[in-house]
Amino acid sequence: LFSAIDMAPRDPILGITEAFNADQNPAKINLGVGVYYDDNGKVPLLSCVQKAEEMLIAAPAPRTYLPIEGLAAYDKAVQELVFGADSAVIQEKRAVTVQAIGGTGALKIGADFLKRFAPDSQVYISDPSWENHRALFESAGFTVNNYAYYDAATHGVNFAGMLADLKAMPRGSIVLLHACCHNPTGADLSSAQWDEVIAAVTNGGLVPFLDMAYQGFGAGIAEDGAVVRRFAAAGGPLLVSNSFSKSFSLYGERVGALSVVAANGEEASRLMSQLKRVVRTNYSNPPVHGGKVVATVLTTPELRQMWEDELAGMRVRIKEMRVAFVAKLKAKAPAHDFAFVSDQVGMFSYSGLSKAQVEQLRAQSIYAVDTGRICVAALNSRNIDIVIDAIAKVL
Ligand code: LMR
Repeated sequence: LFSAIDMAPRDPILGITEAFNADQNPAKINLGVGVYYDDNGKVPLLSCVQKAEEMLIAAPAPRTYLPIEGLAAYDKAVQELVFGADSAVIQEKRAVTVQAIGGTGALKIGADFLKRFAPDSQVYISDPSWENHRALFESAGFTVNNYAYYDAATHGVNFAGMLADLKAMPRGSIVLLHACCHNPTGADLSSAQWDEVIAAVTNGGLVPFLDMAYQGFGAGIAEDGAVVRRFAAAGGPLLVSNSFSKSFSLYGERVGALSVVAANGEEASRLMSQLKRVVRTNYSNPPVHGGKVVATVLTTPELRQMWEDELAGMRVRIKEMRVAFVAKLKAKAPAHDFAFVSDQVGMFSYSGLSKAQVEQLRAQSIYAVDTGRICVAALNSRNIDIVIDAIAKVL
């Protein structure tokens, strides 16, 4: 049975981490995976998370099963974060939320759910997009197409191309949009461009699926979530996957959620019953700990403030690294213009480095994604000069 099975290729992102982990060079630097490191090169354990864990340990609880849809307090807190506590979709009970195994789990629940009820629709993702988007929707059985997004010449968005592609999609198509901090390019739409996208999606009868894995890493928590609220105000249908891996530095806890906006409360109940079926047949019900930590932080005013401050600290440090990256590279490689890096938002920069250049960096134990995506959130005051020297050399 197994003898004819081929070796699968390494994952384009987590495979880089595997190669990094196998590298014996103590000076190695991982700019591949989207993980925030502090200025000491460590993944932070946020103080708000530590405090929430202390509260949970002080009141130990048995580890019974959570409901299929997850912890009620968590789902409620997620809805309020994603849509805004005063949102009409919450007040009218049109939004349903299920706790998910990270943002990837949320996308998978959404993909399986859509395949069941829109089996003939095709999925459209940005060109380029997070590598796993295509794989996830294809593995759910969809044909996945690209819509124009990145313009390598300007390092920005090819907005005319994007809009034309959106307008040409058949009604009922599922369009995956990055709510903020586009992964991998770091190039986001302006507010006015979002207006046009929302109009095209609504008028074209498309099904928007917003992926929000980096809320708080762009302009701020509310600012980054604004697009979701605008889509929700435009009416349904709408799917939103969100993740706390980055914003709470809770990568390994796998804490995310899928929210779906229905036309009315009765439809919402039916959607929830079907989402529960998808969850039940995938992994039955979600784990307890991460959801409790996030719910505790989001609903305890003092911890919530701490979280907002800590997230702001991460956001500011990434921006400082962008500015330093540009200035230092300008000094080392004046013939090359990398000013666009400080205009990009979120954790990533689509640096424009070629696959061959990325391979040359790897030979120096500096790891980036083959597409040239680098994780700016992994730069720090100790490693940035090493990275800049290496990039200047491969340029
Ligand atoms: C990334 O893009 O690096 C992150 O979202 C981590 C992952 O799962 O790929």
